[in-house]
Order: sequence, then C-alpha cells, then structure tokens
Amino acid sequence: MTETRRGCFLVLDGPEGAGKTTQVQRLVQRLRDAGRKATSVRDPGSTPVSERIREVLLDRRLPEMGARTEVFLYMASRAEMVVRIVRPALDVGLIVVCDRFVSSTVAYQGYAGGIDPELIWDLGRTACGGIEPNLTVILDLPVEEGLARARRLAEPDRIEAKDQTFHEKVRQGFLSMAEARPQVFAVVDASQPPDAVAEAIWEAAKRVL
Ligand code: TMP
Repeated sequence: MTETRRGCFLVLDGPEGAGKTTQVQRLVQRLRDAGRKATSVRDPGSTPVSERIREVLLDRRLPEMGARTEVFLYMASRAEMVVRIVRPALDVGLIVVCDRFVSSTVAYQGYAGGIDPELIWDLGRTACGGIEPNLTVILDLPVEEGLARARRLAEPDRIEAKDQTFHEKVRQGFLSMAEARPQVFAVVDASQPPDAVAEAIWEAAKRVL
C-alpha cells in the first residue's frame, strides 16, 4: 500500500536525450523561487553506495549483463537512495524531484529488455518500501532525435549504446505506462524548446503540488 507522507515526490523520466537533467534542475529552482522547499536526486545514484552501483551498471568495459541482473542492481541502488534521502526528505515535508525511477526499469529492462513489467512494478514497491511518486512526467521525443542529442553531449554509456530497436521499445514502454495510468503520469513533448518544456512540466506538476 502507498503510504501518505508530508512531502511530494515528483519524477521526471523518459527516453535518452530528452533533457531530463536540465529540467530537474529548472523545476527545483522554480519550486524554490515559489517559496517551496525542494531537493533533487538522480536514479541510479545520489548516495555513495548508489553511485558505486551506477558505475557498474553503466560501465561499457564490462561485458553484456543479463536484464534480470540489471533489474536487481537498479533496485538495490534505488533502495539505498530511498532509505537514505527520499524517505527522510518526504517525512520532513520536502518536495523531491527525481531524475528517473522505477518507471525507467519498467521501460528499459521490462518493455525493452523482456522482463515482465508487472514483476518490476512489484519489485519496485518492495525496494522502495511503499514510497511511490505522486506524479511521473514522461519527457517524450523521437528516438533518433534523443540519441543524437545525447551523443552530442557525451560518450554513450552501456545502456545508451544499445541499438535503436531497443530504444524504440523503451519509448513505447514509457508511453504505454503513461496511457494506462493517466492519474499518476503526464507526457510532455520534449522536442519543444527548453522553456516550453519547463512550462509544460510546471503545469503538470501543479496537479499534485
Ligand atoms: P541517465 O542517463 O538518465 O543518467 O540514466 C542512466 C542510464 O541507465 C540510461 O541509459 C537509462 C538507464 N536506466 C535503465 O536502464 N534502467 C533504470 O532503471 C534506470 C533508472 C536507468
């Protein structure tokens, strides 16, 4: 069962190159400008243990890893982030903005990687001890555009380096979950200019703030 907490938990998620990281920062800044107490985290990451697991997950020097192995590593990293940062922050009434979350595991290791999405949602509930986002905003854009953008910024990591068919399934996975649960998901067109994307995210977030 989802527990009721004082704070608010917002997730920005979506395919590669959608500009999530910039938009997470912009949203936190806008919330602070509006007088709200807000903080951000990134998944996988944000604690020493979670960051170390992230290195393993994204290391291109490592051989291909089974999707099931990836699921458990992402969940382990996330469990640590939730218990150390997200839960305490929500308990004291903060707004937590998270760059990716369980929805990414469902899209990448589930819809694209072949693991049953329902099993992943269940594991997510166990790993996070009942903490669930109040809203997940999917920043959607065509795969080719996203991969080109991401590759202009940095060398692709182990997951990003997968082929275009894989990333098409990721994108469709995000759109399917958003369509199935519109009360807790919103979809924003991330191919718009960054200011317009930020505005659309703000409008969506107002639903739960
Ligand atoms: P990032 O680029 O948003 O920092 O995410 C790191 C990579 O990890 C990205 O290629 C997406 C991938 N990923 C998964 O495959 N499953 C997950 O559960 C998460 C959170 C990320």
